[in-house]
Amino acid sequence: MDYKAMINNEFIVTKNKQNILSPIDNKVIGTVSALLESDINNAYDVAKTSQKEWEKTQLLKRIEVIEKFKNEIIKNKDKIADIMMAEIAKPLKESLAEVQRTVEIIDFTIEEVRRFYPTAMDAKGWGIENKIGVFERVPVGVVCAISPFNYPFNLALAKIIPALLTGNTVVFKPATQGSLTGSFIGKLWVDAKLPKGIFNVVTGKGSDIGDIIVSNKNINMISFTGSVKVGQRIKSIAKTSNIVLELGGKDAALVLDDKNLDLYVSEIISGSFGFAGQRCTAIKRVLTTNEVADKLVPLLEAKIKAFKHGNPKTNPDIVPVVNEPTRDYIMGLIDNAKTKGASIKTGGTYEGNLIQATLIDNVTKDMRIAWEEPFGPVLPIIRCKDLDEIITIQNESNFGLQSSVFTTDINLAFSVAKQIEVGTVNINSRPQRGPDNFPFLGIKDSGEGVQGIKESLNSMTRYKGIVINWK
Ligand code: NAP
Ligand code: G3H
Repeated sequence: MDYKAMINNEFIVTKNKQNILSPIDNKVIGTVSALLESDINNAYDVAKTSQKEWEKTQLLKRIEVIEKFKNEIIKNKDKIADIMMAEIAKPLKESLAEVQRTVEIIDFTIEEVRRFYPTAMDAKGWGIENKIGVFERVPVGVVCAISPFNYPFNLALAKIIPALLTGNTVVFKPATQGSLTGSFIGKLWVDAKLPKGIFNVVTGKGSDIGDIIVSNKNINMISFTGSVKVGQRIKSIAKTSNIVLELGGKDAALVLDDKNLDLYVSEIISGSFGFAGQRCTAIKRVLTTNEVADKLVPLLEAKIKAFKHGNPKTNPDIVPVVNEPTRDYIMGLIDNAKTKGASIKTGGTYEGNLIQATLIDNVTKDMRIAWEEPFGPVLPIIRCKDLDEIITIQNESNFGLQSSVFTTDINLAFSVAKQIEVGTVNINSRPQRGPDNFPFLGIKDSGEGVQGIKESLNSMTRYKGIVINWK
């Protein structure tokens, strides 16, 4: 695969290319353009120049463009899934599901934008009878969209589509491991003969060109999903303060009783090990009492031991993690826990980038795995003395994306949910971003601002007020 960046509907051939390695065997599976500063500046100039015309384009015409794009996606869904599977080792079924989910997000966003009405207010509450204000939402201008490797299609388009529908133009930077998919999105745009300049794809390594991408003076809004480290860097150097950051997580499963263990186990297993734990919303720690853990751990262990590991083509339970540095980081967390006395119930080994699904019991607060985000197939169990300690450890994390509370006592569930410092608490289910019309947000180091269909339409627009006065 040899795909190119796309600016103003032209593919950009660069002297140097960026190799993309397969997570399965670290062999080169393709190349993308490695852009220079001048290319990136050009992308922003083009986006800025095209924006006013696009903003003036009637909403129904904008929807027509996005519908055409969606049809191109549907036509190419198998190809998109194949590329994704090859470059991030997402199981084939899940890659296809990612494409389908994205099509559904596009449909829902189109419906929502049709009803994106202005707000009207009078001033009677201020004793003023002859004044009415109409506040409509107008595009912010140029949106810089940066996506992570783990949802290279879905988390890209969840930013691009609301931006375009509301009359913004877009410069999109995919993750390097994800930029074959990202560049293919650019190709679909050109193949469908959609308008020039309003959507542009820039590729190259974030460590080389990231600062240039986020600090361009033409940017009016940044929508970023990725790690805490990069998110904080962007915030420190961006010239706009209009930034939505969706960052890492250390979502916990708080298991408060043993009354419905079948449900708890099934949610914890899918929550922890889906896409080999490479989801921001993956369950990355279980907090429970000794008494419950004695029953829960053997059930989890049995399920994990039955997992099939392997090539994403065969839709196994566990696939290789994205690259060698990630594998080494995860193994470092496991080794640290082992050295400090945790019990590895199963897993703890690897071959290539394929890490055996790992369950670690008796994790204590002095171990790195109690606090750091592995982004891999590892589940630590932290045994607590009582509910107070469960809540305390939950809230001691620097992350605050989501968490789950498992109990049959709905009063207790609500009371605990109120005390947990995260964006969203899920009662009796795994943490998850969807359904995609729900607001999706993290607090603390997990982010700033909110994603979601309506929320993205809001964050990519601003109020424009017109106040009418009469005698
Ligand atoms: P990452 O390393 O932070 O990369 C995210 C994106 O930022 C990539 O496109 C990357 O490009 C780019 N980037 C790197 N350095 C940059 C810089 N200096 N300036 C601008 N952009 C830069 O994250 P990842 O490894 O792809 O994804 C995993 C992380 O994302 C995890 O922490 C996970 O929890 C988090 N995540 C959060 C959410 C959420 O919604 N909260 C969703 C998914 C993932 P390169 O690939 O070229 O470096
Ligand atoms: O990886 C982060 C995604 O935003 C999580 O989405 O909960 O649907 O897997 P998900």
